[in-house]
Amino acid sequence: MANKIMNLSRAARIILVGAPGVGKGTQAERLLQRFPQLSVISSGDLLRDNVKNQTPLGIKAEGIMKSGELVPDAMILRLILHELKTRGWLFPAAGTQPLTLSSASMSAQESDFNIEDHFVNSPSLANFASPPQTSDEPAASFILDGFPRTAGQATQLDNLIPMNLVVSFKTPVEVILERIAGRWVHLPSGRVYNTTFNAPVVPGKDDITGEPLSKRADDDEQTWITRLKKFEETSEPLLNHYAKKGVLWEVEGKSSDEISPKLFEQFERTFVNSAL
Ligand code: AP5
Ligand code: MG
Repeated sequence: MANKIMNLSRAARIILVGAPGVGKGTQAERLLQRFPQLSVISSGDLLRDNVKNQTPLGIKAEGIMKSGELVPDAMILRLILHELKTRGWLFPAAGTQPLTLSSASMSAQESDFNIEDHFVNSPSLANFASPPQTSDEPAASFILDGFPRTAGQATQLDNLIPMNLVVSFKTPVEVILERIAGRWVHLPSGRVYNTTFNAPVVPGKDDITGEPLSKRADDDEQTWITRLKKFEETSEPLLNHYAKKGVLWEVEGKSSDEISPKLFEQFERTFVNSAL
């Protein structure tokens, strides 16, 4: 596909939803390559980073992730809030206190996890005197991969930032299962490879840094089945939530190559002003 320079007409705030292994990370990387103004936050990558660094949060998350269950909403919400704020996509309303709700001002790595109780007991994460503000500038465009995953998380996010495109990926389960076995990841960057589909240039090494690739701790068949069940339980209310808001767009395909052109087209229809 030829690369065109494209101007975004407004901020794109996109959520990628789909079964484990459907290709969310792969599609996010492709969108970034095509639209360099975008950035991505992957909830799974943030968690894996915390596990790798054995932060208090990572220690709590490790066993849950290995079992294929979802980590508690409070844990994931604080990670995402921290990330949104650090990247400058969320800032306090003019004339109000800085955005410091509990963990927002501290590093996820150094945070004290007792604060979680505050989150769990709060009616809403966005418990601010004035709701934070978002920028509609195209430069404040981003993709969320893997968050929100439950209708509860979606409601919390609504209170912080209204998202304007929710992409639901649909691929047959048999196809996905085959892929998981071949997946290798570069943990520091989140770059994803597959031995049959997009193998690294040097086997076992990241193309960019040459560092070793690893297997994800949750990539065995049994764990994947648990993750899939969890997805099936939570995705319907999540997708209904966004369908009601009129921002849901579903795309089907057996492979990422079939899905990518459709995704680019939808993205351009929604956010691109003019092709130069
Ligand atoms: P997360 O990291 O988000 O995992 P996931 O949703 O299970 O999805 P994956 O990352 O496994 O798959 P993907 O869709 O990104 O596919 P990929 O592009 O890699 O979450 C992990 C865990 O963290 C969760 O189980 C939970 O515990 C916790 N967590 C995360 N977010 C949370 C939240 N919001 N709330 C609570 N807990 C949360 O593709 C898969 C493979 O297929 C790759 O090898 C790829 O190269 C290959 N592939 C892609 N396209 C093709 C193709 N066309 N042909 C062949 N192979 C292909
Ligand atoms: Mg992923």
